[in-house]
Amino acid sequence: MDDKKIKIALFAGGTSPERAVSKSTGAAIYKALKSLGYPTVVIDPAYGKNQPADVEQIFCEKDYAEISNRNYVEAVNSSALDDIDLVFLALHGKWGEDGTVQSLLDLRGVKYTGSNVLSSSLAMDKMMSKILFQHYGIATPRWFAIDKNGVDYKSIAKIIDNSFGYPCVIKPNDQGSTVGLTICKNEDDVESAVKLAHEFANKALIEEYIDGHEMTVALLENKALPVLEIKPKHTLYDYECKYTNGMSEYVVPANIPQEASERLQEQALKAFHALGCTGYGRADFRMDTSFNTFCLEINTLPGMTSTSLVPKMAKAVGISFEELVEKIIKLSL
Ligand SMILES: Nc1ncnc2c1ncn2[C@@H]1O[C@H](COP(=O)(O)OP(=O)(O)O)[C@@H](O)[C@H]1O
Ligand SMILES: [Mg+2]
Repeated sequence: MDDKKIKIALFAGGTSPERAVSKSTGAAIYKALKSLGYPTVVIDPAYGKNQPADVEQIFCEKDYAEISNRNYVEAVNSSALDDIDLVFLALHGKWGEDGTVQSLLDLRGVKYTGSNVLSSSLAMDKMMSKILFQHYGIATPRWFAIDKNGVDYKSIAKIIDNSFGYPCVIKPNDQGSTVGLTICKNEDDVESAVKLAHEFANKALIEEYIDGHEMTVALLENKALPVLEIKPKHTLYDYECKYTNGMSEYVVPANIPQEASERLQEQALKAFHALGCTGYGRADFRMDTSFNTFCLEINTLPGMTSTSLVPKMAKAVGISFEELVEKIIKLSL
């Protein structure tokens, strides 16, 4: 197929708490697709058939119409996708990164960027990912999970005491962007932290806290890109540090011993393959002060604004944002 004849539908927005981030990713990818010359339609699946005439409205902070999960089916089934060769997914979080949209697109018979249904679902479920990481010998923080029903806070505190102690991290099992996550200093913090995590997910994941450094590795074309260290202004790499200019410092390639950086790359690729991920993605790690690495999760549709982490790692090996977008398209066809 003549590359420039590939017709693309860019999906951005969605209904997850990461809707705003997805709009930014979408706007950046749209700009790149236009300058690369790909005919592109932009669709916010959360609007269903009711898409704005002006694409820029999809990327606007203010919503153009009511959004709903039920609209996804109509959006995927609409005639706008009739002559589309590839859907470029700029969605993040639940109902976008978790295999649900991927499954609708499989049923419709349209190719899409990123990982398949199963890998996307596994990566969105931190507990399932960790079970696979452990199976494949990829170090991950010690953990246990608590279901929403009939929670006994006293027994949770007891398990923490008898396992890894404090501080510990309590987070929703299937959210992104550090939403609903608490670092608990002692038993007094546990109840509210579990309740908060359960506001966002049916399972709360309780993990040992890994003191040290925040590292991330992008995967592209079955290779790991140079390791990036994030130095957030807050102790936690929270929503504000993730998405506000100047709230984090980024060092790529990370200034760490070569041995540690090679291990991070090797573990990142192993984790990516453990979940069966394809195309591109990003593995998040904590690294303690003795350079021991712990994989937290894989992001199958990582942020792709021009200042996001994956584009920064690509740039470190001379791949521009546009080249990265083009590579992702080629990998998906
Ligand atoms: N076990 C942990 N030890 C230390 N910090 C953690 C731990 N788990 C999460 N964090 C912090 O919270 C951030 C978000 O956690 P993560 O598991 O990557 O979820 P998500 O990015 O999907 O919200 C991490 O980047 C890290 O800064
Ligand atoms: Mg993360």
